[in-house]
Amino acid sequence: MIEASCEFSRAITRLPARSIVDGLRAENTGDPDYEQMLRDHAHYVATLQQAGALVTELPALEAFPDSVFVEDVALCLPDIAVLMRPGAASRAGEIAQMAPVLHDRYAQVLEIGAPGHIEGGDILTTPGEILVGRSGRTDSAGIAQLAEIVEPRGYRLREVLTPPGVLHFKTDCSLLDAETILATPRLHASGCFEGYRVIHTADNEEAAANSIRYNDLVLMPAGFPLTRDRLLEAGYQVREINNCECAKLDGGMSCLSLRF
Ligand code: GLY
Repeated sequence: MIEASCEFSRAITRLPARSIVDGLRAENTGDPDYEQMLRDHAHYVATLQQAGALVTELPALEAFPDSVFVEDVALCLPDIAVLMRPGAASRAGEIAQMAPVLHDRYAQVLEIGAPGHIEGGDILTTPGEILVGRSGRTDSAGIAQLAEIVEPRGYRLREVLTPPGVLHFKTDCSLLDAETILATPRLHASGCFEGYRVIHTADNEEAAANSIRYNDLVLMPAGFPLTRDRLLEAGYQVREINNCECAKLDGGMSCLSLRF
């Protein structure tokens, strides 16, 4: 298997569209403040750059309110990219927008076709395997189709379960290094991280689980001091980024970029 790790050189992000106020959400806690979201997004991109990323910032797509969450539309592995097939109908058109961007960067770009559905937020790639959580957006058919693409190329894929009521698998976990995962206790309890070292989010700080490790830095949402201190004590370099606006759309650190 070609090792996927926390070492990257590039990232793709997309500016939030003003139509973000029409974005999908499990619960309505109010519309995001667009100007604040732009400031948070700029801080996120700058932090990726500080971590060593060459960032391609794509233009906003008003026709697709959730298109700022680019992670859901593709899986970027070291040798291939796979375009996903979102379970959310309103997001299906985002794939055609991302396809040329990936074709410019990868020699091989494959695509999940009907009948399955799969979104990148449900995929956690570690050096040893690709974990894919079945969820309201990702079904067994989509996971099987991804397995057909990646397994012949030497990747090991394991189907796991995203907890009920949780949008994506990575809503509840992140890879911190080759053997360490930050996870909510509820996801860890499902038993899917056997063989990994797991650091739990603190009580009432479950939303901190959607963080990302990019080279030497861990980007995490601001406002979760107990979990931040656990990461600092474990020796990670942490950067906190305001995520209050994205959180209203159930989005977080991982959703905002493709990293490769
Ligand atoms: N609002 C992000 C999503 O539901 O896909």
